[in-house]
Amino acid sequence: MRDLALGMPIMSQETLAEESGKEITVRKILPEDKRAIVSLLRTCWDSELVTSRGNVYDASTLPGFVAIDRNKSIQGLVTLTVSGGSCEIVTIDALQQGIGIGSLLFDSVVQLCREHGVTSLWLVTTNDNLNALKFYQKRGMRMLELYPGAIDFARANLKPQIPALGQNGIPLRDEIKLELTII
Ligand SMILES: CC(C)(COP(=O)(O)OP(=O)(O)OC[C@H]1O[C@@H](n2cnc3c(N)ncnc32)[C@H](O)[C@@H]1OP(=O)(O)O)[C@@H](O)C(=O)NCCC(=O)NCCS
Repeated sequence: MRDLALGMPIMSQETLAEESGKEITVRKILPEDKRAIVSLLRTCWDSELVTSRGNVYDASTLPGFVAIDRNKSIQGLVTLTVSGGSCEIVTIDALQQGIGIGSLLFDSVVQLCREHGVTSLWLVTTNDNLNALKFYQKRGMRMLELYPGAIDFARANLKPQIPALGQNGIPLRDEIKLELTII
């Protein structure tokens, strides 16, 4: 894995002023974020350990970006792995959804890929995550592969706490790979 951390911009200029009065800024993950990142991952995914394509990642150790509010409190997180010319989004989470945090994080990753000549940005999501499927496709990602039963396998072999019932009352079973080609 290439370490992109050194090449990351310290601070994105993108900010989001919401009706709620929050101001969200995106910056790269710093070592001092570790405790807050572990806490966020446990809140969102029950653990800092996440699975993707049969791999288990400790997402709290990965490079990426955080979205912070004006009090420097972390409101969102995206974590990445990079290999050759491709970058995987391992996790992406907004603590408050639908106010633009995910978009800021996603755009920061696309910008990072452009800066480093990474041409393939990909991720896997799950069959139940209709919100994420909408979010990614509206941002240009295409569905590349379907892995039937991949989540059943991960639950049985890698992460037993993955629930049987996912979002929207849909049984959580399969992985879907999406990709954005960056030119
Ligand atoms: C998927 C996820 C990361 C998207 O992040 P998000 O912050 O909710 O996304 P955004 O707010 O940027 O965009 C969602 C919608 O809100 C809209 N939006 C953006 N800014 C807004 C604002 N200030 N006020 C209201 N709506 C806004 C966007 O236009 C977007 O609509 P669109 O998809 O129709 O274009 C988030 O929903 C999430 O954390 N989900 C749970 C974890 C998860 O499933 N992660 C993905 C695993 S693969």
